[in-house]
Amino acid sequence: MGNLTFTMIKPDATAKGYTGAILDCMIKGGFTIKAMKWTRLTQEQAGDFYAVHKQRPFYDELVKFMSSGPIIAGILEKENAVADFRNLIGATDPAKAAEGTIRKQFASSIGENAVHGSDSDENAVIETDFFFSKLERF
Ligand code: CMP
Repeated sequence: MGNLTFTMIKPDATAKGYTGAILDCMIKGGFTIKAMKWTRLTQEQAGDFYAVHKQRPFYDELVKFMSSGPIIAGILEKENAVADFRNLIGATDPAKAAEGTIRKQFASSIGENAVHGSDSDENAVIETDFFFSKLERF
């Protein structure tokens, strides 16, 4: 069980002005920010980040969406970070997300679901390394 996870606030949420409210949920949920940046992925970068989903029917749509506007990428710290953060954000499909979760409050569909959270400690490392150098982590 690791103490770091990786998150993105996705283009739907940054466009709707939910950034501050979502960051507030993360902090109130007990997570400490170790690294954070406002950036925008190219289609190629979004494709690389989600390469594990390349064979899935929604891949092209996902890549287009994730490169459609700015995102916030971050590294969050908390004991049991991966599992606790997935509880805080809720199910991938906001229609199935529990009351009070970030996706229940801010996501509009399974594709445009406001936030990303790593699904394992191993992927948290891969995903943080995708966005952040050692010098950008505090
Ligand atoms: P995320 O947690 O970032 O990981 C993979 C993403 O693929 C997921 O959130 C959704 O944005 C997207 N996704 C997963 N399933 C579907 C689906 N059935 N249709 C469209 N997008 C999906």
